[in-house]
Amino acid sequence: DNRSVAIVGGDGIGPEVTAEGRRVLALVAEKRSLPMKLVDGDYGVEAYEKRGRMWPEPTRVAMAEADAVLFGAIGGPAQPLPPEMHRTDSLLAVRRSLDVFVNLRPIKTAPALYEASSLKPRVLKGVDLIIVRELLGGIYFGEPRGVETLPGGERRGVNTHIYTSSQIQRIARFAFDIARTRKGRVCSVAKENVMEAGQLWREEVQAVHDNQYPDVELTHMLVDNCAMQLVRAPAQFDVLLTDNLFGDILSDSAAMVTGSLGMLPSASLGAVRADGRRGALYEPVHGSAPDIAGKGLANPIGSILSVAMMLRFSLGMPEEADLVERAVSDALEAGARTIDIAVGRTYVSTREMGDAVASELTSL
Ligand code: NAI
Ligand code: MG
Repeated sequence: DNRSVAIVGGDGIGPEVTAEGRRVLALVAEKRSLPMKLVDGDYGVEAYEKRGRMWPEPTRVAMAEADAVLFGAIGGPAQPLPPEMHRTDSLLAVRRSLDVFVNLRPIKTAPALYEASSLKPRVLKGVDLIIVRELLGGIYFGEPRGVETLPGGERRGVNTHIYTSSQIQRIARFAFDIARTRKGRVCSVAKENVMEAGQLWREEVQAVHDNQYPDVELTHMLVDNCAMQLVRAPAQFDVLLTDNLFGDILSDSAAMVTGSLGMLPSASLGAVRADGRRGALYEPVHGSAPDIAGKGLANPIGSILSVAMMLRFSLGMPEEADLVERAVSDALEAGARTIDIAVGRTYVSTREMGDAVASELTSL
C-alpha cells in the first residue's frame, strides 16, 4: 500500500507554510517506515505568469492520481487574469473537478493560546467544534450569474442561491456521521425565515435525521443568531452544519476564537467512488497573505494540522493524526509563537515553528 500525496503550495505564503506541512508528513512516513510518494506541483497566479496556466497540466494529473492533495493558498497581489482562466483553473474549478462537496473546519481552543484571542478565557474554555460546510452548491455556483446592463444603462449583478434535496441530504448525512464520532450533536444553520432554499434545507436535514440518525441530537439555528452565538458562547457547539456561503463566513469568524486564522486547518472531501477512492483536498483556512509573504512570518500550524486531517481521513492513520496534533499543542505549550499569536513577546519564523513541531513529534 504505497500512498501518494500531491503537494501544491500555490501563491504568497502558500509555499512557505506547505513546506512545513510537507516536512511533518514526511517525518510521519519515516517514523512509521511507510513508503509515501510526495509529488510537487505548481498552481496559481505565479504558475500563470510562468506557464500561461494557473492550473498546469502536470499539476492536474498529479492531483488526480494522488490519494490526497496538500494545498497552500492562491491569490496574487494583482490578478490580471482572463475570465476564462477563472472558470477553468480557479480554486472553485479545482474543487468541482475533485468533486469535493464537503468542507470540514475544526476549531479547538488551547489554554496556551487564550491570551492570543480577543475573547475572554471563560468564553474560550472547552471550545471543540467542527464546521461542516457544503462546498459545491448554493450561491457560489448557482446559475444564472453575471453582471448585465439593462435597457437604460442601469447595471445589475446576479447570483442565484440554489440547493436540491439530494445536495442537502448528502451533506447532512456527512454531518450526522461525524457527530456520531464526537459528542453526537448537530446544529443546522440556515436562514429559513426569509429564504426558500433555507426552508428546503431545514426540512431535508430534519428528514435525514428522523429517518436515519434519530440517535443524534439535532437543533436548528438562524445564521445571524449563529454568528452572534459563536462569539458569545462557542463552547455550546459540537457539529455546525451549514451551506457554502454561510459556512465561509461563519468559519472565518469562528477562527478568531483560536487566536489566529493561521491556526486553522481544513479538509475538503468527495464521495467514495467505485474504486474506493475519493477526492481529498487539505489546506489551511487562510489565503495567500500578500502582506506577509516572503518574510518567513507566516504561521504554518494551519498546514500542519491539515496534514493531521489528511492522515485521519485519507491515509488511514488516525493514531499518527493524533500524534501530529499533540506535537502542535506541545510546541505551543513549550512557548513557540509565530508573530500572529505572539502577543508582544518574541516570535519565531515559519521554519522555526516547523522545527518546534517536528522535534516534539520526533520525541513522541
Ligand atoms: P488572508 O487569509 O490571506 O489574510 C488575512 C490576514 O490574516 C492577513 O493580515 C494575513 O497576514 C493574516 N494571515 C493569514 N494567514 C496567516 C498565517 N498563516 N500566519 C499569520 N498571519 C496570517 O486573506 P486576504 O488578505 O483576504 O486574501 C489574500 C489573498 O488570498 C486574496 O487573493 C484572496 O483571494 C486569497 N485567498 C485564498 C484562499 C485560498 O487559497 N483558499 C482563501 C482566502 C483568501
Ligand atoms: Mg474564506
